[in-house]
This record gives sequence, structure tokens and C-alpha cells, in this order.
Amino acid sequence: MEISVFGTGMVGRALAGRLARLGHDVVVGTRNVEQTLARTEPDAKRTPAYTQWQQANPEVRLLSFPDAAAHGEVVFNAVAGLQSLTVLQAAGVGNLAGKVLVDLVVPLDYSHGRPPRLAFANEDSLGEQIQHAFPDARVIKTLNTMHVNVMIDPARVPGRHNVFLAGEDARAKEIVKNLLGEFGWPAEVMVDLGGIKAARTTEMYAPLLFALMDVLGTSDVNISVVRGPE
Ligand SMILES: NC(=O)c1ccc[n+]([C@@H]2O[C@H](COP(=O)([O-])OP(=O)(O)OC[C@H]3O[C@@H](n4cnc5c(N)ncnc54)[C@H](OP(=O)(O)O)[C@@H]3O)[C@@H](O)[C@H]2O)c1
Repeated sequence: MEISVFGTGMVGRALAGRLARLGHDVVVGTRNVEQTLARTEPDAKRTPAYTQWQQANPEVRLLSFPDAAAHGEVVFNAVAGLQSLTVLQAAGVGNLAGKVLVDLVVPLDYSHGRPPRLAFANEDSLGEQIQHAFPDARVIKTLNTMHVNVMIDPARVPGRHNVFLAGEDARAKEIVKNLLGEFGWPAEVMVDLGGIKAARTTEMYAPLLFALMDVLGTSDVNISVVRGPE
């Protein structure tokens, strides 16, 4: 499958590498290809320069956001949270029309320091904002309730634990579920929360996830939903 991953950070790299190793034709999107490849220093999150990763993953091409958007049947949004709409606008409404747009981003505001706050919640979500701004894209909110290491390798967390999906398009959900299955998620742990409005619920989990990773001292942590008898 032709897949585009928006984002050159640790999340975009991990997803792109995993998808490429699964045999998909993967490209990564960035603002400026030359500038991204010219960087030699780690970024503000201490992620090493992209060029190092590129050398280790030569089969994954780095393209501008519009070119990357045109490539994929499926587009993963893994850019900085509050820049998502700007990046997607730059990618082009037409390039995203009809595409399955997998949004795993949390709208985090670091302007008050760490831990970050949610920039908005309760009556709104980034997933809804993206679907509203790109009505012809088929937005599926998923994977945003865990660290990227767990997203692409759920066996890092022992036992039965869950991944959530929210979105309007049933066929797009099936396509995303198949990709989640390739990552290693069993079908029975995929919880369909309904329409894209449910992105509010999973985005609001982020502060608890940060707290859990902090107190447990590991990013290998996830939600396990246990249901009582009828
Ligand atoms: N860390 C996790 O395990 C985890 C878990 C769940 C969700 N997430 C989400 O994953 C996303 C990516 O996280 P990350 O740490 O890999 O990367 P990041 O540093 O948050 O974002 C890097 C990407 O954002 C773009 N970007 C940054 N500032 C920009 C600006 N002002 N305008 C346009 N684009 C901008 C960069 O573009 P260039 O390529 O042009 O530099 C780059 O592609 C975040 O939104 C985060 O909420 C992360």
C-alpha cells in the first residue's frame, strides 16, 4: 500500500520505518526537504538529525508535505500537535481528498512548560477540527493513547490491552484496522468508539498517560478495558 507519514520526529520515523518493513511503499513529509536533510544537530526534543535515520532507512523517501500527500492512499498525521492544521493546509485540500487520514496527534500546548496542557478539550478535539477543515478526507483518530513504541509493537505491553478508533467512514476504519493488525493489534482489542466526536475522549486521556509513564518509569504502558457481565 502507498502510505505517507507526515512528520520527521521520532513518531513519524518509527511509524514510517515499521510500515516500510511491513512491505508498504512509504514516504515521509516535511516542510522543506533540503533543510531537513541539512540539519546535523538533534532537535529540541533531543531527537537526532533526520539525515541519520534517512541513511539507515534509504527506502523511505523524504518529500514535501504536498508531494507526500499526493503519494499515499493512507496519510498518517504525526506532526507537532498545534501545527497539524497548518501542515495539512500546506499539503493541500485536493491532495487529501478521499484519503484515509490517520490522526494520532494530541493537541499539546508546551507554552506553559512541562507537562504540557491540552490546548482545547471537552467541546472540541483536533480530530474533529481536521475532519471539519478537510471534509473530503476520511479522518480516523487512533493510536493517540499510547507511546509510539507501543503503537507499532503492542507486544511490548504484556496481556490484553486496547487501541481505540473514532471516525465517520466505516470503510476507512476497516483499512486502518487492517494496518493496526499488521502492527500486531488483535482485532478483539480494537475498540470502535463511533464518530469523530469521540476523538475528544481519547485526546483528553493524554495527561493521565504522561502521569502513568512518569510514576511507572516506563513508556510501555497502555489501557486494558475490562467489561463486567451483562
Ligand atoms: N511521542 C509519542 O510517543 C507520541 C504518542 C502519541 C502521540 N504523539 C504525537 O505525535 C506527534 C509527533 O511527535 P514527535 O515528537 O515525533 O514530533 P514533533 O517534534 O512534535 O513534530 C515534528 C514534526 O512537526 C513539524 N513541525 C514542527 N513545528 C512546525 C511548525 N511550526 N510548522 C509546521 N510544521 C512543524 C516538523 O516539520 P519539519 O519536518 O519540517 O521539521 C516535523 O515534521 C505529536 O503531535 C505528538 O502529540 C506522540
